[in-house]
Amino acid sequence: MTTSIQNLIGLRTLSRTDIQFLLDQSEGFLNPEAPSPWFSQKIVVLLFFEPSTRTRVSFELAVRRLGAIPLVVDIEKSSAKKGETVLDTVRNIEAMGVDAFVIRHSESGLPEQLSTLIHTPILNAGDGVNEHPTQGLLDLFTLRSKLGELAGKKILILGDIKHSRVARSNIFGLNTLGAKVFISGPPALMPSSADGLDVTIVRSPDEVIGEVDAVNVLRIQRERQDSGECPPVDEYRRLYGMTEERVARLNPSAWILHPGPINRGVEIDDSVVDHGQSLILTQVRNGVAVRMACLNALLVSPK
Ligand code: CP
Repeated sequence: MTTSIQNLIGLRTLSRTDIQFLLDQSEGFLNPEAPSPWFSQKIVVLLFFEPSTRTRVSFELAVRRLGAIPLVVDIEKSSAKKGETVLDTVRNIEAMGVDAFVIRHSESGLPEQLSTLIHTPILNAGDGVNEHPTQGLLDLFTLRSKLGELAGKKILILGDIKHSRVARSNIFGLNTLGAKVFISGPPALMPSSADGLDVTIVRSPDEVIGEVDAVNVLRIQRERQDSGECPPVDEYRRLYGMTEERVARLNPSAWILHPGPINRGVEIDDSVVDHGQSLILTQVRNGVAVRMACLNALLVSPK
């Protein structure tokens, strides 16, 4: 089985077949010793206009493990600081001869727009509040590895949904695979109904905490919020935090996820991070294999 994916922009537009393909391919990349395609002449450019630890490092590792060459552009020392547009930056690097771009930027929709203006494949590493498709895929992969097929499974996404590209990619992917998605968080941090997301909003996570198969806990994204949208820390933790008390009410076979970075003691208790039902570092580990599968799909597809 193959795929004809040319760019990885978001999970909203990926078919069930394409998602299943990428998840199945990720299995093969889990073992670092497993034989990998050897893209020794391929150059993958990493352009991170926003901070990142997990996504940037795991993409760089994924490129190296595929045998390709990562070219990490230091945005702080680039001509972006002299006012060059992102499009001009990308077109100039493309003119030198590269094989793929991994781009993170604060502007929603920018990777999609760029993909219509250049000929080199683009992998979206997170655009504004829109999507974070490789995070969505690694979350689906991690859930599937523990729960089996996701059709009919109940997943609660908890926290700042409105500003979360992780939530959106998770919701699109979970919807496509047939899972039932609940969301909960402060009313001001819920998405507008115009977003057309197929979710059930619950006022409090306690309404469903005992019946879900997994809870994906989100970081409070203060950098994207207006003042007053988020309750004070103590109130947030009491109403929406993944506290020890809430974990005790989870089904013992349910799992806890968090995309990171974590605000310990705010959206998740310190002790919950390393709880036996937490998959947080498993997500991070799986992220390398999932990104290898995505890069592999794009680097081998006919242009
Ligand atoms: N989950 C995630 O995107 O983390 P980083 O911002 O560290 O890449």
